[in-house]
Amino acid sequence: MKISVIGCGYLGAVHASAMAKLGHDVVGIDVDGAKVARLSAGEPPFFEPGLAELLTASIASGRLRFTTDPAAAAAAEVHFVAVGTPQTRDGHAADLRYVNAAIDSLFPHLSPGDTVVGKSTVPVGTAAQLAERVRTTGARLAWNPEFLREGYAVHDTIEPDRLVYGVENGDEASVAVLDTVFAHALELGTPRIVTDFATAELVKVSANAFLATKISFINAMSEIAEAAGADVTQLADAIGHDARIGRRFLSAGVGFGGGCLPKDIRAFTARAEELGRGESVAFLKEVDAINLRRRQHVVELAVDELGGSVVGRKIAVLGVTFKPHSDDVRDSPALDVAVSLKGLGANVVATDPKGIENARARHPQLDYVENLEDALRGADLVILVTEWPEYTGLDPAATWESVAGAVIIDGRNALDPDAWTAAGWRYRGMGRR
Ligand code: UGA
Repeated sequence: MKISVIGCGYLGAVHASAMAKLGHDVVGIDVDGAKVARLSAGEPPFFEPGLAELLTASIASGRLRFTTDPAAAAAAEVHFVAVGTPQTRDGHAADLRYVNAAIDSLFPHLSPGDTVVGKSTVPVGTAAQLAERVRTTGARLAWNPEFLREGYAVHDTIEPDRLVYGVENGDEASVAVLDTVFAHALELGTPRIVTDFATAELVKVSANAFLATKISFINAMSEIAEAAGADVTQLADAIGHDARIGRRFLSAGVGFGGGCLPKDIRAFTARAEELGRGESVAFLKEVDAINLRRRQHVVELAVDELGGSVVGRKIAVLGVTFKPHSDDVRDSPALDVAVSLKGLGANVVATDPKGIENARARHPQLDYVENLEDALRGADLVILVTEWPEYTGLDPAATWESVAGAVIIDGRNALDPDAWTAAGWRYRGMGRR
């Protein structure tokens, strides 16, 4: 099919490249000229495993191009809206300005029979409003939420674990179009749920709310474990064996971050309050509070381990991204911890395999080093906050040689406490004995 993708960020760039790989003819459109230039040259403007290869192959096939010109959408019959919906500056609600701008830019180029497909995460009720406008051009609207995880975005786009189509009044034409777009996934047996707009919008936010709740649940247990002298990792292993609970997303640590989970639970709460159902998701405020407390807890542990003050002490912060295999530092717990410790007067030296450039743009006051050894050398304290394999695979004995103080805070419970303790380290985990 002839496809346009409006918005070429983490979601849109991957979606456009994957759709081209699957045989569609795709144009990616973005207002950011620098981003378009890099994508056109086959260079992803952000780090995502496998994307560079996919992008290069798709461009070489002649089925993928990028432009800043919204008129390029005129040649397409399916238009994916994949722009961001960040948190508003002055509140918790989602900022829909980019979604509205994307629809505005598409509007003059829509033809009767076209299908506009929303992928952005939006407050329930948004699609119904947009549909009225889209309908005036003779085009249709469908809502097809995206569930990709950063770090696995290419895989999740080509082989999603489910497809959700939100359509109006069972609109069979939109379903047929989406079935053609996603023929590859459907052939693989991917479950497909056809529903209305509101349910499709809610599926997305409730999935993220559930994941956030699961993480905060285990982090709440880690607070209790700390007070009671129990071990949250063993607790998670034990309850995780119950198939109804499951072990995934049950790793206690410094908590969740990124461009999705934190802002999505806040936007969901704000929307539920607008709908007069604030009490139904009031627990999400607690989920958010537990999550933010874990960042503070790491800072308190650091102060405690350094004898009550971090002033002038060298702290090596391993990781700045919100999770490994990404360069994304949006709402990153790791970066928050580094900034807080710097604010308390510590000599923070942060390192990360992929995130330094983005971190420096947001927090230029921190010292960053590319080389792990430079971060560790002479450190009074080491904090692992993003579980990159480079850090979880560190040899405790060799690392001991580099530092001034052999104390490690494992903010992701990703290290073996016995091995580190045996090598002479003082090990502090999150909710671990
Ligand atoms: C999340 C969802 O997992 C995707 O399904 C969704 O499509 C995406 O948001 C989105 O809305 O676009 P992502 O933000 O890439 O994906 O990150 P996750 O893998 O969900 O991780 C989120 C955070 O939770 C990370 O900071 C991670 O370190 C943390 N986490 C995860 C834990 O603290 N404990 C765990 O057990 C699992």
